[in-house]
Amino acid sequence: MSGICDRSRGPRIHSPRGQGKAATGRWRHDLDPCDTESVGDDVRSDLSDEEFVAGIPKVELHVHLEGTIEPLSLFRIAERNGIELPYDSPEGVVAFQAERRAPGNESLVNFLECLDISRGALRTGADYHTITVDFLARCRDEGVRYVEMMVDPQQAIRQGVPLGDCVEAITQGRADGLTNHGVRSQLIMCFQRDHPAAEAEALLEQADAHRDSIVGIGLDNYETPGFPALFAATYELARRREYRLTSHCDVNQPDSIRHIRACIEDLGVERIDHGLNTATDPSLVDLVLERGIALTACPTFYHGQQGAAESRLDMYRSLLDAGTMISLNTDDPAQFGSGWLTNTISEAMAAARFSRSDLVRFMHNAIDSAWTDEHHRRDLTSELLTFCNR
Ligand code: ADE
Ligand code: ZN
Repeated sequence: MSGICDRSRGPRIHSPRGQGKAATGRWRHDLDPCDTESVGDDVRSDLSDEEFVAGIPKVELHVHLEGTIEPLSLFRIAERNGIELPYDSPEGVVAFQAERRAPGNESLVNFLECLDISRGALRTGADYHTITVDFLARCRDEGVRYVEMMVDPQQAIRQGVPLGDCVEAITQGRADGLTNHGVRSQLIMCFQRDHPAAEAEALLEQADAHRDSIVGIGLDNYETPGFPALFAATYELARRREYRLTSHCDVNQPDSIRHIRACIEDLGVERIDHGLNTATDPSLVDLVLERGIALTACPTFYHGQQGAAESRLDMYRSLLDAGTMISLNTDDPAQFGSGWLTNTISEAMAAARFSRSDLVRFMHNAIDSAWTDEHHRRDLTSELLTFCNR
């Protein structure tokens, strides 16, 4: 057996990654007698690559609930809300998205326009409950043990769903997902970067009534001028309320490097959603390592985006090798052909030639940067180790 927890190796030698402070503010696994850094590429040689990817216990930290609506479900939700979709059939959704991400068409804007059509059908708390439960059922099938899901309440409110209805429906869906599918989850409330910061601040105050249902806040949607400085006060308010803090910094956007640095230094985020351009600036890599900032990359999402896919592969390869807390996530699995987590991992492994030990490191990074309690993180780590040692 090719085990990863070989106590006979003596004290663990810390790699650059091992020396970093976790995004949780704690030193990584000081108490663990061993960890995944000693995993070999021959781990679980009894399994095919497909079985290995399917079987590894998974954690996902960057997925938008509104991006999980599959075509059939979209049609059902639209029908019950009396909304006419610009598609003839569920197959038409896939065909339209494929056209919008064809070479030459691909961009964050095109992506968000497609997403708008899907999320535009959500009109009631019940819709948010449906998509949460459907998503968590899918997580179970994918071997996801724990997931942090994002939602944009501003979108819900614009479509007639008050904040309370949206959050309560998702909270009930999370409880149902745990009971029925055994998947633990938490909710991240995202504000939209292309909408006024004052709106975000007002929403943050309203969210006090639901504080226990929301683990952290983020920023998403279009990466517009003024981001992230415009949201400094919002983040200060959120910090005082002890929310965990993240923000999107989409890939290859104008001023990507400046945005990532400002999110870390001025907003005080613990994570960057995407943030791959970090790889192109050594001083930013140092900052990310020094502060233990986690990066939630979404490999299949980048297929539909501008810029050579290869350069993005290079970026997450070099971020993994530099020892950053980079993880693999889906972002919007039902959009633009991204696919669910198993597919995302398989595609990333094939495209970037990640090895099994790389995959274990990505998963360990996800666990270490998860906003769950230390006990739970240790349980998740030990399940990962058990899988590898079986
Ligand atoms: N909303 C959903 N996915 C997003 C992404 N990758 N960037 C910005 N906003 C999003
Ligand atoms: Zn995202």
